[in-house]
Amino acid sequence: MSTEFGTFITAHTELATPPACPEVRLHLATEITPLWLASEEFLHQHNLPPPYWAFAWVGGQALSRYVLDTPDLVRGRRVLDFAAGSGMTAIAAALAGAATAEAAEIDPAALAAIGLNARANGVRVTIADGNVLDRPDCPWDVILAGDVCYERPMAEAVFAWMRRCARTGARVVMADPGRAYLPKTGLMRLADYEIPCSLDLEDRTSRTATVYTIVG
Ligand SMILES: C[S@@+](CC[C@H](N)C(=O)[O-])C[C@H]1O[C@@H](n2cnc3c(N)ncnc32)[C@H](O)[C@@H]1O
Repeated sequence: MSTEFGTFITAHTELATPPACPEVRLHLATEITPLWLASEEFLHQHNLPPPYWAFAWVGGQALSRYVLDTPDLVRGRRVLDFAAGSGMTAIAAALAGAATAEAAEIDPAALAAIGLNARANGVRVTIADGNVLDRPDCPWDVILAGDVCYERPMAEAVFAWMRRCARTGARVVMADPGRAYLPKTGLMRLADYEIPCSLDLEDRTSRTATVYTIVG
């Protein structure tokens, strides 16, 4: 893990628990604006995307809650948290008894946050090599993806890959609060969760996020 990223993360976040998953401790931004202002220069210098890893997104919280509430989904299985951000769902899977919990991320600062967060929860989370969307194989029993429908090109690429993985036998479970690029077909609803959230981030104080599995 880059020490520089680790230092930046610990300086600008606090260890806290997401409202829907008090079992998980994460380095989270307490307020959005100070982190954004502090990080602008740092992110630019290091050519990094916005700090998604500093927030427990409502989709990820619903998915993590589902994993903690239905541990049989992951117990003894090889699990991937795709687009892991803070690593919240990979940590939930490890706490729920996954044989291995892996996280996929393309943001190097998120990878550092995942390492810090896994350590804060006393669990092992490994990092998947490269961009998993480009991999021809699918070495996981269960793929989890929280809040991945916020940009069209990403959502299209992710759903094509998740459908491919589902066809090869992986159980694919994702969660979303109704973002713009959530597909209208090929999903079966598993559970709904009402998740408290920040007015600054979501423009409201709570959102319903739905957990789905990929079908067809
Ligand atoms: C809205 S955040 C969701 C984070 C987490 N799942 C949650 O719900 O809290 C989306 C994350 O997707 C990551 N991402 C985007 N494209 C990706 C890709 N091809 N592979 C892995 N991660 C990706 C971004 O870096 C970002 O951290």
